[in-house]
Amino acid sequence: TASLQPRRGCILVVLYEAIHVSQQNSPKIHEGWWAYKEVVQGSFVPVPSFWGLVNSAWNLCAVGKRQSPVNIETSHMIFDPFLTPLRINTGGRKVSGTMYNTGRHVSLRLDKEHLVNISGGPMTYSHRLEEIRLHFGSEDSQGSEHLLNGQAFSGEVQLIHYNHELYTNVTEAAKSPNGLVVVSIFMKVSESSNPFLNRMLNRDTITRITYKNDAYLLQGLNIEELYPETSSFITYDGSMTIPPCYETASWIIMNKPVYITRMQMHSLRLLSQNQPSQIFLSMSDNFRPVQPLNNRCIRTNINFSLQGKDCPNNRAQKLQYRGRFYTRQSPEQ
Ligand SMILES: *[C@@H]1O[C@H](CO)[C@@H](O)[C@H](O)[C@H]1NC(C)=O
Ligand SMILES: *[C@@H]1O[C@H](CO)[C@@H](O)[C@H](O)[C@H]1NC(C)=O
Ligand SMILES: *[C@@H]1O[C@H](CO)[C@@H](O)[C@H](O)[C@H]1NC(C)=O
Repeated sequence: TASLQPRRGCILVVLYEAIHVSQQNSPKIHEGWWAYKEVVQGSFVPVPSFWGLVNSAWNLCAVGKRQSPVNIETSHMIFDPFLTPLRINTGGRKVSGTMYNTGRHVSLRLDKEHLVNISGGPMTYSHRLEEIRLHFGSEDSQGSEHLLNGQAFSGEVQLIHYNHELYTNVTEAAKSPNGLVVVSIFMKVSESSNPFLNRMLNRDTITRITYKNDAYLLQGLNIEELYPETSSFITYDGSMTIPPCYETASWIIMNKPVYITRMQMHSLRLLSQNQPSQIFLSMSDNFRPVQPLNNRCIRTNINFSLQGKDCPNNRAQKLQYRGRFYTRQSPEQ
């Protein structure tokens, strides 16, 4: 009704002021003051349920309504025929980048002269790859941020891109509309290994970043090798999964996992959140718990009806993950 219009304007002004004031008052010291897990016998560091409460600039972590990660119920997905295929543009070149132990994640940042862009899918702009981040669990049954039908994977690779058509860098894009696109690929333990992850996680490489702030240069990387062999994906609008939880990210979850070996998973768990002088604290279980979906739409480019219209059960069979969940239960390999 018409009477609602002026009220809404008032609320927006109040909100704007609240955000503006909180940004001015938030001390710099808070910027890195968050964690995934309680520290045994340590001083208090806010875990995910407290992120939004300890720093007013991180309000969205607590009160945001389109937060990430989420649990994806495949029965609720909607086929969107307007989703075009993803286009990854590496310019046909291999890239180099530096792999870091940030104390929270394994993080690979590409050299600035190597521009890898992505477009298509749900994107209206081209986005540039900024960082590849790994989340993983202390055991194989957990580690991914997103869940699929309530189930976690052993890990999740996140390729974080920013809108380089509208913004000059990722910092600016992260707080702006249409700022980020994150491509998410689940990791699963197997006998073979994804060739890209093999470069990052082989023993010689991963042991160079055992401690916080360690860094190691990798050359001759082919980003396309990181993608699983599928053009199917699932997409929804969400947020960054770390403070300040800005709701500026479109998520694209690939419809097949990538594999790493048991040994590589073990090496990841031997990474420390701390520097060598401090006690060893495994980086594993560096995932944020799932957030409410709040009526958001989860779209996919999988055309369920391709398998035949007469059988409603075909809806789920088209999804690559379906079969994999059954094998997950049995002791495989
Ligand atoms: C990515 O986009 C930038 C800016 O438009 C362009 O200069 C660069 O060549 C693109 N890179 C590739 C590999 O297409
Ligand atoms: C990002 O871009 C903004 C706006 O152009 C600029 O003010 C800021 O210094 C840049 N930040 C970094 C880290 O380059
Ligand atoms: C989806 O599959 C149905 C059944 O084969 C087909 O009629 C329809 O054109 C397909 N839609 C798209 C957008 O491909």
